[in-house]
Amino acid sequence: MSKPCASEWLLSQNKYTTDLSGDPQLSGATTSGVTISVSSGKGGVGKTSVAVKLAKMMVANGRRVLLIDCDYNLSNTLLKLNLPVSNNFFSLISAEKEFDDCLYKEGNFHLLSGCNGNLELFDNGLEYDYLVIDIINQHRDKYDFVILDCPAGISRATLNLNAYSDYRFIVVTPDKSSVTDSYSLMKILSIRHNIKQNHLLLNKVSSVGQFKRIVKTMSETVGNYLNCQLSLLGGIQLATEAVDKFDQVLFQEGKSGLHKNFLNVLKRFDEEHSNRMSRHFPLRGKRMFDMDGMEYEVPQIS
Ligand SMILES: Nc1ncnc2c1ncn2[C@@H]1O[C@H](COP(=O)(O)OP(=O)(O)OP(=O)(O)O)[C@@H](O)[C@H]1O
Ligand SMILES: [Mg+2]
Repeated sequence: MSKPCASEWLLSQNKYTTDLSGDPQLSGATTSGVTISVSSGKGGVGKTSVAVKLAKMMVANGRRVLLIDCDYNLSNTLLKLNLPVSNNFFSLISAEKEFDDCLYKEGNFHLLSGCNGNLELFDNGLEYDYLVIDIINQHRDKYDFVILDCPAGISRATLNLNAYSDYRFIVVTPDKSSVTDSYSLMKILSIRHNIKQNHLLLNKVSSVGQFKRIVKTMSETVGNYLNCQLSLLGGIQLATEAVDKFDQVLFQEGKSGLHKNFLNVLKRFDEEHSNRMSRHFPLRGKRMFDMDGMEYEVPQIS
């Protein structure tokens, strides 16, 4: 594949459009395969947990979802689901298998996992962003949503995947390094790709006060220094379970506090997305400082 500069190439994918203010817009035709990247800058903040949980919840709500693990050689999505790792990503790009044969399927939840230390993949020095975008373009019509579980860092490939997506969910934890790294990600997206709108999901939150402080600081900083808007998706509490029990708790439904947090996140997103689709118009910073009326629950920390 020839490689024009990233912005030219993204435009050539006939998906990435901007309105007059430079906000990314869903094209009127985009009613399927709406693409959401889940990113952070910093590692270990909960991107994979969030991506898998939201994908499964969307499917429970009747949507068809393709989750693509873009951590293409350090894949964790199958592990999250307590499933054995696979080399299907390599099988797909080396044309050994068809797309359908490379997916893990549970009803309308389809997962294209990445590999784990695959040497051929490593030695190939592939530009997997181009591959992933080709995969999305070929298959997005079969899905309501395509969710990209992105790797940590600010590689060119991750930036391109973010710029290509209709929505960017930026997962941040309350520590300074996570806040700083997510700012760096948004800064480069703003300067290199003119991306002015991102969504914030604060994970591992210990208290409402902490949540409010960080959201306020981040919204103000991103607004003042980058002239960008940060739409708030909500917060996910810091689970107190042992690390090896977390995934079990994550996928529990019912009255679990974690699950309720995710329900609120999805509700907010659904409202915004429906509104945007019906008006073909992005909701611009509507929730930037809107803390009141938030249905946010945090556990008592002992
Ligand atoms: N809300 C939470 N409360 C407690 N632990 C959490 C929470 N969210 C995620 N974790 C834990 O944090 C760790 C990192 O989670 P996860 O793998 O989802 O992060 P990641 O951002 O995808 O990491 P990487 O950058 O390596 O891809 C895991 O051990 C996970 O169980
Ligand atoms: Mg991950």
